[in-house]
Amino acid sequence: MPLLLGALLAFSGCRKDPAIPENPLAASAETGFHIPAGWPAPYYSFSENPLKPEIIQLGKKLFNDPKLSRDSTISCGSCHQPAGAFSQTGHIISHGVDGRLGTRNSPGLFNLVWHPSLMWDGGANNLETQILIPLQSHVEMEMSPQELVTRVSAQPIYQKAFLEAWGTPEINLARILKSMAQFEATLISDGAKWDRVQRRQASFTADEARGEKVFMANCAVCHKPPLFTDFAFRSNGLSAGVANDSGRMRINRNEGDKYKFKVPSLRNLAFTAPYFHDGRAATIDDVLKHYSEGIAAQPAPYTDPQLHNGIRLDATEKEQLKAFLQTLNDTAFARNPAFR
Ligand code: HEC
Ligand code: HEC
Repeated sequence: MPLLLGALLAFSGCRKDPAIPENPLAASAETGFHIPAGWPAPYYSFSENPLKPEIIQLGKKLFNDPKLSRDSTISCGSCHQPAGAFSQTGHIISHGVDGRLGTRNSPGLFNLVWHPSLMWDGGANNLETQILIPLQSHVEMEMSPQELVTRVSAQPIYQKAFLEAWGTPEINLARILKSMAQFEATLISDGAKWDRVQRRQASFTADEARGEKVFMANCAVCHKPPLFTDFAFRSNGLSAGVANDSGRMRINRNEGDKYKFKVPSLRNLAFTAPYFHDGRAATIDDVLKHYSEGIAAQPAPYTDPQLHNGIRLDATEKEQLKAFLQTLNDTAFARNPAFR
């Protein structure tokens, strides 16, 4: 099982990571959490929330429980589905309670402890408090924190699970959020072919290797390996779009950040279509067409300077790039029974 293998590798590579407390469970096969060899230190600190298998299981139960929404129809898992690498498959923008539509595409959830900020616009900077945003959102789950605690407390199944996980039966908001954050922390995707190539367990085909060159020359500056994002807020030259979403500026009111979005990871693209913050690109071909022909025609003032001339790609380069991007798909992650 790739996760177990990764855990062993992580142990030999990053044992003395200062971000990980002296918690024997913090990087073990038992929790599924590990730091893949060669990856940076995680941003999320486990010191106030040490991993424990029973807490992770409780977090998974909460994540998949529709009772956490006002009308008991929508769970976190409705919009973040395992087979979609925890994105919402088949939806351009998210669907919440009463079929209400959001304005953004549900991103896949993986390698979250490495994100310095969360959401397309960085509107949250903590894995635990982020959870309150979809919970309370009118277009997502529409639940108040008080009602949440009341509902969870009312279910006998949780009374037992909280006792096992936390040592006492008390059910409070902090424990709910920490449990869910622990489950999210274990969603580590490091089992793609690209990762096996880094570990010298596989090698690229000729096309994948050529695609890697094209990628490193044109894309890696923003989609930086091994996480395939630099986590910066940038505009890749998309037009404002139907929703006229101002992106990062919505959060910091800084005119210079208008239309900028967090650079997304390019792992697991096979499972997370459609693409871009509003799901406007249905396929990778559409994405490459944008970079190759969509920007140069009319670069907007906010477009990242690196992209002012677009990225001219001929048909062969596009195919090679696509072959390389496919090596970033982690099928074992999307099928991992531990996440269901
Ligand atoms: C109705 C669909 C919907 C539901 C329900 C939902 N989400 Fe999301 N989620 C989204 C969308 C859309 C975004 C992107 C939002 C944005 O950028 O403004 C998102 C973003 C996130 C992110 C940030 C990912 C990143 O790459 O920055 C996390 C973490 C997350 N959701 C976790 C959760 C959790 C936990 C729950 C349950 C409490 C939940 N979501 C419920 C649709 C949903
Ligand atoms: C200047 C930085 C930059 C460069 C260079 C860049 N991108 Fe992006 N990329 C972004 C940003 C920012 C987004 C998010 C745009 C949005 O949705 O508003 C993005 C989104 C994407 C997405 C959509 C992912 C998703 O989950 O929705 C794909 C695929 C992608 N880029 C591939 C590439 C490829 C392939 C290259 C090289 C040919 C490339 N990018 C070059 C910044 C960049």
